[in-house]
Amino acid sequence: MEYKFPNGFKWGTASSSYQIEGAWNEDGKGKSIWDIFTHAPGKIIGGENADVSIDHYHRYKEDIKLMAEVGLKNYRFSTSWPRIFPEGPDKLNTKGLDFYDRLVDELLTNNIEPYLCLYHWDLPLWMHEKGGWPNREIIGHFSNYAETMATKLGDRVSNWITQNEPFVTAGAGYFIGEHAPGEKNPIAAIRAVHHLLLSHGKAYQAIKASISRSINTGIVLNLSPVHPATDSKKDLKAAKMLDIIQNQAFLEPLLKGSSPLQKLKFLKPFIGDLIQSGDLELINQLDFLGVNYYSRAVVAHDKSFPIFSITQVHPEGNDYSGMWEIYPEGLSELLIKIWKEYFDSQIPGKKLPEIMVTENGIPVPDGIDFDGRIRDERRIRYLKDHINQIHEVISKGIPIKGYFVWSFMDNFEWAYGYSQRFGIVHVDFHTQKRTIKDSGHWFSKVIQDNGIQ
Ligand code: GCO
Repeated sequence: MEYKFPNGFKWGTASSSYQIEGAWNEDGKGKSIWDIFTHAPGKIIGGENADVSIDHYHRYKEDIKLMAEVGLKNYRFSTSWPRIFPEGPDKLNTKGLDFYDRLVDELLTNNIEPYLCLYHWDLPLWMHEKGGWPNREIIGHFSNYAETMATKLGDRVSNWITQNEPFVTAGAGYFIGEHAPGEKNPIAAIRAVHHLLLSHGKAYQAIKASISRSINTGIVLNLSPVHPATDSKKDLKAAKMLDIIQNQAFLEPLLKGSSPLQKLKFLKPFIGDLIQSGDLELINQLDFLGVNYYSRAVVAHDKSFPIFSITQVHPEGNDYSGMWEIYPEGLSELLIKIWKEYFDSQIPGKKLPEIMVTENGIPVPDGIDFDGRIRDERRIRYLKDHINQIHEVISKGIPIKGYFVWSFMDNFEWAYGYSQRFGIVHVDFHTQKRTIKDSGHWFSKVIQDNGIQ
């Protein structure tokens, strides 16, 4: 079987600042909520942090050389807000800005197209102390940061991402507290959801206003098809609920300019006057939608879970990675559903945002064999199965424009510390030695062939 992709299909990999950079207190960088969270006991598996991580801040040239060796054409990374504004909204740290300037130049010299994401969870501590995402004041500060980055790099960076996985920022950070800042406050979480979306709209405008060339500005969401654990009424309702809060609560404002949360009666007391007039119009601006897909969600009713009464279950008999169920068919199900509900129904003639898969990957505990090779066949199978799903979706006439593997190199996996390896390049966390895994060589061939032979 041969799977050829359309000309111009974008193959890439993704990463984020906190997970790879290290240099947590160098060149004037301020603290982020992740610096605080990881340094507190009991939050991260193995008590790990990303103070050094894979030291990309110092090794970016070597890393980009390796990307070029793999033949990578597109690279998604994030910039660290507290490197740019370390202590507050007024004092710019040019050394931090210079790092991204050099990084972008190095990528372009190697013919790698940068996809710059402004927020991948490392909120400056000063902003957290002002109330963080639940405080509407953040919008102005975030768009000021967006403008600063766009002014400096807009002559070279053509792809801008405002937010990465706002559902996780709000849900894991403010609702269940598994991520920084570790809060368990439903009201704060719901406020965070709206302000994350609003920050997208404001930053979208700030970026466009600062760059005179034609550029693309989008957002990255983690979306999943949601299946009920059983056919019981309660489980069906639970599945519907997760679909609203994980998928629709983001897609609808971004693509239709309305909010499903406003329609939920029981949320009224939480929402109050949160959504102000003009907000939804502002959010409804998008050049591309990035979809991160890892697995489906299977959901049951659980009244012990605050407000939404849901819990995720793990059906027997399926294949699992170190973190999730392996369910490739969920990717086509999801993309087709998004297309039908949010794109196909748009006014004819209206320019539609592009869709790209901006993250997909699998944690495998890869070891180096005696001959120095890393035979990560399971990852190759996972990536292949998902790429094939995208091919199927494209063959149905749905234009998916790109696919980014999470991640180029093994790195710090949030609450899981260094226990999960997602890279197509192996990193020895003690010596920092990088070795291309079999999956890296395989992906290199996929890029070269523009598909799977
Ligand atoms: C993201 C992701 C990454 C993770 C990856 C594997 O939100 O973009 O969380 O940061 O490392 O998804 O869990």
